[in-house]
Amino acid sequence: MSIGKTIAEQMEHASWIRRMFEIGARMKRERGEENVFDFTLGNPDGEPPTEVIAALRRAVERNPARSHAYMPNAGFLAVRQIIARQLSQQTGLAYTPDHILMTVGAAGAINVVLKSLLDPGDEVIILVPFFPEYQFYIENHAGRMVLVETDDAFQPDIARIAAAITPRTKAIILDSPNNPTGVVYSTDFLRQLEILISGLDHPVTVIVDEPYKSLVFDGLALPVIPSLIRRTVVTYSWSKALSIPGERIGYLALSPCLPEWEPLRDACTFANRILGFINAPAIWQWVIAEVADLHVDPRPYQEKRDVLWEGLTRMGYEVTKPQGTFYMFPKAPVGDDLAFVRSLMEEGILAVPGSGFGRSGYIRLSLTIPRETIERALPGFERALRKT
Ligand SMILES: Cc1ncc(COP(=O)(O)O)c(C=O)c1O
Repeated sequence: MSIGKTIAEQMEHASWIRRMFEIGARMKRERGEENVFDFTLGNPDGEPPTEVIAALRRAVERNPARSHAYMPNAGFLAVRQIIARQLSQQTGLAYTPDHILMTVGAAGAINVVLKSLLDPGDEVIILVPFFPEYQFYIENHAGRMVLVETDDAFQPDIARIAAAITPRTKAIILDSPNNPTGVVYSTDFLRQLEILISGLDHPVTVIVDEPYKSLVFDGLALPVIPSLIRRTVVTYSWSKALSIPGERIGYLALSPCLPEWEPLRDACTFANRILGFINAPAIWQWVIAEVADLHVDPRPYQEKRDVLWEGLTRMGYEVTKPQGTFYMFPKAPVGDDLAFVRSLMEEGILAVPGSGFGRSGYIRLSLTIPRETIERALPGFERALRKT
């Protein structure tokens, strides 16, 4: 066998994704598509706003000279200028184009910043439950993931984070609004984190991963993390905001408050190049220059959240009400999430076990299927609950 042991082990660890996909495909063959309720997919539903496609058409038609050539590894200056202006308005901080790097999605941005921060054995704190790819991104750069539990409402606990910090801690990743729970971390917690980090005798950088930033519900005002915490690197993408995850466009923003932002910017620019991304897709940078502020309407997701949350809680499920994203993370009534996922499958319902996100005893449901499918799935959730 020529493949490396490390990647073989990582693939085994992540194999539930493949298993769910295979089971789903088999169930659809056996039962018919309409009788399978697939709550596993993290792919935004709906098409990109028409403005995005119109901007894409204009970019193709304009076709400025050298628009298909290599460019500065950080991305086009004009595009970074637009992002810097937008971030300065949102945060009150003096972002300039030099603080911004256009990236291959948020996934590219996280890999670039981890590559720039980590030496082998350095630690990165992750709050549980978590987006499972974080582990692999950290291991890509020889780092070590350190897991810190959140409470029953999935809010972080500052004392637990403080206890997990060691001289090897280089970063902490905050994912809010959170995949898989949909919760937003509180301003109180963020203030406490700032006090904790600014009191440390070595720099710990907060990676603010916020691809779901525009998908918040009930008019909630999201805490502006770079205004509350000084040592931040924001990773963002338009994957969810504009329903274009296949186009791979995002950015990384170094806070102007980071004393070492210039050498870190140089390291990130170099990392973007040597990780093989080279630069973010050129044509999508031009599109983003026109639609950077735009996002899909979160209300259809909010309506689906209401249908599912109200339906499940009425039956007796325990579910923290998501404040954003398109996920929900109900408690598995039997405690054993794998057993409960199997029980849901008998009803044609596909869900992801919470263990895949580091917290067993829960299941993750994605709201990226039609409302009518969610409504038709509710009786199956009720029967599965009654069977326990
Ligand atoms: C929390 C979180 N971060 C990052 C990503 C990566 O997103 P992308 O690389 O498409 O921007 C995802 C995708 O699902 C996510 O859920």
